Amino acid sequence: MLRTNFPIFEKKVFLNSCSKGALSLEVEKAYEQYLYDWKTLGSPWGLWVEKLEKVRRSFAQLINAEPDEIAVTTSVSAAVSSLASALSFEERPKIVVSDFEFPTVAQNWHAQEARGAQVCHVAEEGGEIPLERLEAALDEKTKLLAISHVCYRNGAMQDAKAIAKLAHEQGALLMLDAYQSLGTMPINVKDLGVDILVGGTLKYLLGSSGLAFMYVRKDLLPELNPTVTGWFAQEDSMALDIYHHLPAESARRFESGTPPNPCVYAGIAGLELIHELGTAAIKAQLDALTDRLKNAAKTQGYKLATPKAHGAMMALKAYDVETLVGLLETADIIVSSRDGNLRVSPHFYNSEEDIDKLLTVLKKHEKLLCKA
Ligand SMILES: Cc1ncc(COP(=O)(O)O)c(C=O)c1O
Repeated sequence: MLRTNFPIFEKKVFLNSCSKGALSLEVEKAYEQYLYDWKTLGSPWGLWVEKLEKVRRSFAQLINAEPDEIAVTTSVSAAVSSLASALSFEERPKIVVSDFEFPTVAQNWHAQEARGAQVCHVAEEGGEIPLERLEAALDEKTKLLAISHVCYRNGAMQDAKAIAKLAHEQGALLMLDAYQSLGTMPINVKDLGVDILVGGTLKYLLGSSGLAFMYVRKDLLPELNPTVTGWFAQEDSMALDIYHHLPAESARRFESGTPPNPCVYAGIAGLELIHELGTAAIKAQLDALTDRLKNAAKTQGYKLATPKAHGAMMALKAYDVETLVGLLETADIIVSSRDGNLRVSPHFYNSEEDIDKLLTVLKKHEKLLCKA
């Protein structure tokens, strides 16, 4: 995939894919195609439903799931609230969340306190969530454990397979938020043994906001009946039946109203770029780029907020991160911050020169960075 397909690189060094993937010519064209289809065909609902099924298959392929195990949603929030509405907290009231969760995930579980859930937080230590802490929090009262595959704050990566095993030993479900890992590495839900996986297209999957998905393991579906629902969650949405609620047998039962058609076009185009390159090749390139940054940080004595196991993002501890982000922006380098850390998040379109340009400007302002 040519870097020239991402026009932002004509003027900027873009290193902020953990926040938003760069716009490609392909995704731009997909949006134009949506407008063209709308303009010339009027109301091609059949075509739009075909596109919805196409993006469902593409999500499934990305994580080695079956299309019937994928709900296409408009956000992770919508997916998790539908899932939460399908759980009963009578026998198992406990929901365990790590302190690395994205706010919307934790907030959705806290919202279930009104329905009898009890939320237990597992704290970090040294930039990681220790496995022993997760293990200690799990018990026979635990309904579900929610963890992030890669933390949006410092890039820490959790051992999803080991954690799924711990959850299952206690009869709990494991929900993996893979928003920050999808598109940067191979993910195989069957191999990891996760029960539920959520993610969306606006970051490393190169699409836009408005499109997300949830994988739910097939054999769980019959026992999960969401009450947060809509006509696209019905077995036959075109039955237009106002007397019954007949949810789809498949994971479509977690869907809601009219799909976000423009975002579906963009999502298909973004995912095609990822499939074309392959997640194994993307991971190899990202490992090389993050290693380069890590080694330079070590040589310069910069303090990393990212632990040993990490995803595509590296975070550097800073004294005044907002000033630093601003100074980098003035130098046409786009990065972001969380928790007082500078987040640097390359994707396959980045080069070693991008990392080196960043390092040159950081050296100039190194007083703003914490030293190890
Ligand atoms: C780990 C993680 N989960 C979820 C989200 C977004 O959730 P939603 O699609 O509900 O906005 C983000 C976005 O920043 C994220 O980084």
